[in-house]
Amino acid sequence: MQPDAASAPATPVVEVNNLVKRFRREDGALVHAIDDVTITVDPGDFVVLLGPSGCGKTTLLRAIAGLETPDSGEVRISDRTVYSSAQGVEVPPERRDISMIFQSYALWPHMTAFKNVAYPLQSRRGRKVGKDEIARRVRQALELVGVGELEGQYPGQMSGGQQQRIALARALVNNDDLVLFDEPLSNVDAKVREQLRFELVSMQRELGFSALFVTHDQVEAMELAHKIAVLDRGKVVQYGTPQEIYRRPATRYVAGFIGAMNESPGQVVGVDGDAVTVQTEHGRVTGRAHETRHAVGDRVAALWRPEHGALHPEEPTAPNRWPGAVKAGLFVGSHTEYVVTLAGGDVRLWSPRPDLVAVDASAWVSVDVDDVLVLPDGTPQPQDAPADELAAAS
Ligand SMILES: Nc1ncnc2c1ncn2[C@@H]1O[C@H](COP(=O)(O)OP(=O)(O)OP(=O)(O)O)[C@@H](O)[C@H]1O
Ligand SMILES: [Mg+2]
Repeated sequence: MQPDAASAPATPVVEVNNLVKRFRREDGALVHAIDDVTITVDPGDFVVLLGPSGCGKTTLLRAIAGLETPDSGEVRISDRTVYSSAQGVEVPPERRDISMIFQSYALWPHMTAFKNVAYPLQSRRGRKVGKDEIARRVRQALELVGVGELEGQYPGQMSGGQQQRIALARALVNNDDLVLFDEPLSNVDAKVREQLRFELVSMQRELGFSALFVTHDQVEAMELAHKIAVLDRGKVVQYGTPQEIYRRPATRYVAGFIGAMNESPGQVVGVDGDAVTVQTEHGRVTGRAHETRHAVGDRVAALWRPEHGALHPEEPTAPNRWPGAVKAGLFVGSHTEYVVTLAGGDVRLWSPRPDLVAVDASAWVSVDVDDVLVLPDGTPQPQDAPADELAAAS
């Protein structure tokens, strides 16, 4: 860390401010593909955009790259405004100094690795690069990603991992500070995918470029990211480190999207600082509220992860304890996954002990107060705007 890093924060590689992009569907409905998104990527950061199909990940990436014209807002890349509705600025994609790696890598099948990597240098508008300089930079990029010996190979003659490296070399050959990835691993089978993920992370950390990486796979997001932006219907609902998002999901939507979660809806019956007690169908649950202040009577949900639950054959003394019956116990090697039926519904918990309580026997479940999260009951549900809104907005 540099001595003045705290006082003078580095210029972000990407700044997206209040970006909006709507599409009109064939049936006339208006889709808020990007709905007032503000997000910053710092130098050297690996940022993952995570969300289900259709939440606007590709549209956001394309808007940053300049392949999609937003309706309003601003995009800045390394302190330069590349899109601004207010200032009437729109820099074309090839002048934005960023590279994009698509799903399936989009390598040219009829070109060798060398030619694929050289392509962005040759097709570049404005700054012409000489032939010798191209050769030098292509070989350097191929060496950098560890596939120098493959320069004469065609994509069809390479493994998936080698193709990824060629795609990465092609993205790095321009020395752009930012590489955008749109689900580049989605066509690869699970085992290879894991390996490629690992390689991608170590190359990114080593080479230091900033990455904005789209995926709908939460495990992939957790493994790759310094920071995750969780998207829900065009909105960033939470932006933070994988740990923050896992430990303190801001909404029930985020909680349910990242990892397994038990949820009990109920009503607040007591508040003591950030400790909130909730009356649920299976009894009282005390947990912590981090973002929202709750009052007695509020409708909320108490949430906890299966790895934080404990199972007991007899009644324990813990403050959060509820009686039930074991419905199933599935031994998966490292732990046993129990399903326990409480009043009002089933909960899941993971225990290191396989034969703690027999199936159908009665048992107690407990969870530490610090491991229970109390969140507002509803997640705001952004509605598709009425069809006449576009006319009003434009
Ligand atoms: N050209 C278009 N015309 C109309 N609607 C579009 C267009 N492009 C995208 N959309 C809509 O915008 C929303 C966001 O699409 P986008 O492709 O950004 O989603 P995504 O998060 O990348 O999804 P996936 O994970 O399936 O790739 C979707 O509802 C989609 O139907
Ligand atoms: Mg997409």
